[in-house]
Amino acid sequence: MVIEKICCLGAGYVGGPTCSVIALKCPNITVTVCDKSVERINQWNSEKLPIYEPGLDEVVKKCRGKNLFFSTDIAKGIQEADLIFISVNTPTKTFGNGKGRAADLKYIESAARMIADLATSNKIVVEKSTVPVKAAEIIMKILRANTKPGVEYQILSNPEFLAEGTAHSRGQKAVQALCWVYEHWIPAKNILTTNTWSSELSKLAANAFLAQRISSINSLSAVCEATGADVSEVARAVGRDSRIGPKFLEASIGFGGSCFQKDILNLIYLCECLNLPEVAAYWQQVVSLNDYQKTRFTRKVIESLFNTVSDKKIAILGFSFKKNTGDTRESPAIYVSNTLLDEGAKLHIYDPKVEVDQIYYELTNAYVTSEPERVRKNIQIHDTAYSAVTGAHAIVLCTEWDEFKELDFKKIYDAMMKPAYIFDGRKILDHEALINIGFHVQTIGKRL
Ligand code: NAD
Ligand code: UGA
Repeated sequence: MVIEKICCLGAGYVGGPTCSVIALKCPNITVTVCDKSVERINQWNSEKLPIYEPGLDEVVKKCRGKNLFFSTDIAKGIQEADLIFISVNTPTKTFGNGKGRAADLKYIESAARMIADLATSNKIVVEKSTVPVKAAEIIMKILRANTKPGVEYQILSNPEFLAEGTAHSRGQKAVQALCWVYEHWIPAKNILTTNTWSSELSKLAANAFLAQRISSINSLSAVCEATGADVSEVARAVGRDSRIGPKFLEASIGFGGSCFQKDILNLIYLCECLNLPEVAAYWQQVVSLNDYQKTRFTRKVIESLFNTVSDKKIAILGFSFKKNTGDTRESPAIYVSNTLLDEGAKLHIYDPKVEVDQIYYELTNAYVTSEPERVRKNIQIHDTAYSAVTGAHAIVLCTEWDEFKELDFKKIYDAMMKPAYIFDGRKILDHEALINIGFHVQTIGKRL
């Protein structure tokens, strides 16, 4: 089976970059990324892409209009494609059964129904979104119940894991076709094929294991602060054991991002449904510890500022959930900012890549506050770190952007209220140097 045309439903953080790489690596394949959002597609077709990712601009510029297209014409995309990726969003449910834990599969279902309505030839349908185990079955049921004569579907699960691909179906030819696409740039030995359920569960398991490492080191950061141990030294020592390894052991104000919490909650919900409460409780602890870490850090900020931040100017440096992205989903900076705003603080926020409207949205939407106008009045967004910190009582560093390490802290100290405080939630600054300048410094996992 030869793949000439690929269509992707969902032009988000997964669909956009994944398809751009496929277009780059497979010049013989035409890739069309479709989205129902006109605004998103217009952004993908503009000079300023909707997503910031190092290197993405160059790849899109090279391929767009040649073998990479962004379009709202979903019908055409589906009809022409040999292979369709579903990479729509699967957010945590905010209502009904499984609220706050289960993944909401309504976008997956609507994508499957669109394919069933529109397809007039055989398709390989690849579930790329992160879904609960057995979600491929939903897609299969919808497609098979609505199949038009002469149209056959093969459904594969191929969740997004960095460079690994996992795929399987009874139709081995479909698996081979998808592997052939990836083999344009990934060595065949690195492409794993598994059964569908293993593929879906491996995705949840991988994110759960990664998040668990962060919660483990964050739990030890609290012990370090209580004892005088240094969490970076502990991580370095523990990571030397090759069975443990050094990666993903950075203590922080807690993990964020659109996937870790969502996928663990999804795993917990699955375990509860399977009547495995002990397993559910085990994974719940990873999320609870992460909440604890965010709370613990914020409490430390407030306590250090004499237990009152009311009307104090606080500079928030970094708002994205990690460096090198403008993505704010589940960013720990949101929790920190919200709590400080609840306590009456005036926040001056600077992030090198997050859009101004996005910060306002995260702090004023109905899920986080019932007083959006009051919150809006108490936030100011800046386009440099220096203007954000001028006149501030404290700096709270929430994201580990490299440029924060290069700031002139003597100049900053001179521009701040005294005593001047810095709370380094990412352990990236030179704490000795800051103390020598005159700052009061607090960080994660180390007493200063
Ligand atoms: P996203 O919200 O950025 O993008 C999803 C897009 O799908 C939106 O633009 C939405 O308008 C569109 N959409 C929804 N229904 C549609 C339909 N029927 N037809 C066409 N477009 C439709 O989401 P994302 O971050 O790209 O994540 C997508 C999936 O991949 C999720 O399941 C997520 O868990 C998983 N995932 C995400 C990442 C990541 O780094 N963000 C990594 C691995 C896996
Ligand atoms: C994560 C996984 O790393 C990817 O493999 C996976 O494909 C993806 O989720 C997904 O399924 O969406 P991502 O959310 O982009 O990727 O970001 P990470 O680099 O994993 O960071 C997640 C959070 O953990 C960030 O807030 C980061 O600052 C934090 N983190 C990471 C730490 O606090 N300490 C660490 O040592 C590492």
